[in-house]
Amino acid sequence: MNDTIILAIESSCDDTSAAIIRNGIVLSNVIAGQKVHEEYGGVVPELASRSHQENIVPVIDLAIKNANISKKDISAIGFTRGPGLLGSLLIGTSFAKGFALSLNIPLIEVNHLQAHVLASFIEELGETIEKPNFPFLCLLVSGGHTQIIVVRDYLEMEIIGQTIDDAAGEAFDKSAKVLGLPYPGGPIIDKEAAKGNASAFTLAKPQIANLDFSFSGLKTSFLYLLRDKSKVNPNFAQENISDLCATLQKSIVDILIEKLVKASIQTGIKEIVIGGGVSANSGLRNAIVETGTKQGWKTYLPKLKYTTDNAAMIGITAHYKHLNGDYSNQSVSPLARF
Ligand code: KG4
Ligand code: ZN
Repeated sequence: MNDTIILAIESSCDDTSAAIIRNGIVLSNVIAGQKVHEEYGGVVPELASRSHQENIVPVIDLAIKNANISKKDISAIGFTRGPGLLGSLLIGTSFAKGFALSLNIPLIEVNHLQAHVLASFIEELGETIEKPNFPFLCLLVSGGHTQIIVVRDYLEMEIIGQTIDDAAGEAFDKSAKVLGLPYPGGPIIDKEAAKGNASAFTLAKPQIANLDFSFSGLKTSFLYLLRDKSKVNPNFAQENISDLCATLQKSIVDILIEKLVKASIQTGIKEIVIGGGVSANSGLRNAIVETGTKQGWKTYLPKLKYTTDNAAMIGITAHYKHLNGDYSNQSVSPLARF
């Protein structure tokens, strides 16, 4: 059988990424982040699409080089169709379409969220990983989404719970912003939290009955805590940064774990997977493993480099779509909401 080599392109937000996947195995994965947003406290869409435009050719070029293949070996092109920032998605989509047309090979559109779910299936050359068994539950936690998904097959997924306001990543990033930390604040809070006491302060807990999440009350409660304490001591935030981060992180993790336990009991599913940028969080990773031991779960944590946005996850999803013969035509356009 001939090798199937997929070039995958991700450009939904502020990371330009390209990967090469051969028969479902990742040969290369190149990511160019964008520092320009740091000082703005969030992603500036106009600047993001401009950076994608600058980065896309060198990133794809390097992915092809690192995989030690040539352009003519590529059998199909997978790309993120959405959800994401329209201007960012347009860069990846247009490039994928043009490249597929010039090489006369099929195009495969990928849903970015499905790709985060499948990150635990990414295998590299020379390794064999233990993959989740269907059906499994995925806690998908990123900068834009927070969902609990029943995954029945590679491409058969049902959302059974989701945030009614902010995403978990937003809760991290917006709280980091009020602490005066740069964007994205999630990784910085994670680092600081490791040095702090998680019971130092008390934050409001959301009261949502079903499997949905809410983080806006927590964010407001964090803001009020800072405001009140800073009135008495203007240096309160700086002097208590680690304890504040530890308390915030534990509160977010507790909210996530509580609903995941509930979802597992309701569905009877004990294969548990996490995905998305916030699945890099060490507090969440530890809590998943600890809770898993208590609940009798089998847990799967994606490698750190495949938690935040990357093209390898787009490639693995495109691989399964390719096996199904699920292709897009040249009239495909990006979808900000997918
Ligand atoms: O999946 P992702 O790269 O992009 C989206 O699809 O949204 O997720 C980005 C989010 C950001 O909110 C970032 O702060 C968060 O993931 N994040 C983290 C950590 N690493 C990334 N949050 C908490 N702890 C981390 N270690
Ligand atoms: Zn993402």
